[in-house]
Amino acid sequence: MMEPVKVGLLGLGTVGGGTVTVLTRNRDEIARRAGRDIVIARAAAKAYNRDAIAGIEHVPSITDDAWAVVRDPQVQIVIELIGGYSPARELVLEAIANGKHVVTANKALIAKHGNEIFAAAQRRGVTVAFEAAVAGGIPIIKALREGLAANRIEWIAGIINGTSNYILTQMRDHGRSFDDALAEAQALGYAEADPTFDVEGVDAAHKLTILGSLAFGIPLQFDRAYVEGITRIEAQDVANAEEFGYRIKLLGITRKTARGVELRVHPTLIPARRLIANVNGVMNAVLIEGDAVGPTLYYGAGAGSLPTASAVVADVVDIVRALTTDPENRVPHLAFQPGELRDLPVLPIDEVETAYYLRMQAADRPGVIAAVAGILGDAGISIEAIHQKEPAEGDTHVPLVMLTHRVRERQMNDAIARIEALDAVRGSVHRIRVEQLAG
Ligand code: HSE
Repeated sequence: MMEPVKVGLLGLGTVGGGTVTVLTRNRDEIARRAGRDIVIARAAAKAYNRDAIAGIEHVPSITDDAWAVVRDPQVQIVIELIGGYSPARELVLEAIANGKHVVTANKALIAKHGNEIFAAAQRRGVTVAFEAAVAGGIPIIKALREGLAANRIEWIAGIINGTSNYILTQMRDHGRSFDDALAEAQALGYAEADPTFDVEGVDAAHKLTILGSLAFGIPLQFDRAYVEGITRIEAQDVANAEEFGYRIKLLGITRKTARGVELRVHPTLIPARRLIANVNGVMNAVLIEGDAVGPTLYYGAGAGSLPTASAVVADVVDIVRALTTDPENRVPHLAFQPGELRDLPVLPIDEVETAYYLRMQAADRPGVIAAVAGILGDAGISIEAIHQKEPAEGDTHVPLVMLTHRVRERQMNDAIARIEALDAVRGSVHRIRVEQLAG
């Protein structure tokens, strides 16, 4: 076999520790696949993360100085696992400038600075691999960029934040509180350093941005994504959805339409009979509709130490293989050749068409349902189902819950404003988008 490949590791937290474990535990098998042995020549971590690799003698030299790693002449591949926008961006650009290939699990970095980073890598003739950035251990980037390369991708819908899925599952199955479920996801190492990124949809939007670019050959545009998290979902919505035959999931959806590309993360009602509706706990799943293959579904652990390390190490193996083959013909970063990216507009959310679940508090008296239905009818919105629930003890208002057919969001916003203006409706109308996800 050829000389070992030397890698430098930035970060020894949850994923960094897992990467060391996988590289150590499966060393022989990995070398047989890659054609070379892979050794960690140098690692940088903050002192408090050093426990992550306690007892593993495979890391010879640990420093606090990440810059020393990206400038170390013997390091050929830098694995960036520190997360966040900065200094990850500067370190990755420095590694590239020094001619090193980069493997990263950092979805925030790629979604926000990927265009700049890929352009720099292109100029320098190095690869930046980021399989671990989307859906953890699921090889979704490989599937989209390589396995589905024959297809015109029509849409993608994914459960791509394990923490939110864990919380929604706990609320549905065990009636647990939001805070309890979040605390547990944090303790298990699934949540982001800032867990508002998980529950406010930001982490899912980072990943969706990457999927949208890979699917449609457009530059990364995280700032154009519509982002709504799960913090306003109440136990009664989970139960109402169930009664209609639906489940609530935080979905990232990207779809190509004649008017542009949809890029949106929000809680979504999906039919309970769909496979993806039954993806529970911290698990992730991505459903891709390709014109030739039809729907394909990818399922697995979207977070956690070893699952994410699985994707990190697979990227390292890919790069090691490519080091010995045709470097001019690597798989393009965003699936399409760099000069072939298109400038399709990302649609603002009010241009998007979906069906809706609506919940409101309506006065329990004759004519109220008719008034609400009249407003929806005037706006050309057709009602698919309607439930009036029991009033709470002594309350003059009842929860009124309905499902509508598909309509442009702007039209729905106008109708909701008119409904909220009715005397008989108390407070605001609570809306959740509905997707059938039919092939
Ligand atoms: N916080 C993320 C999640 C980790 O919960 O899915 C993986 O990116």
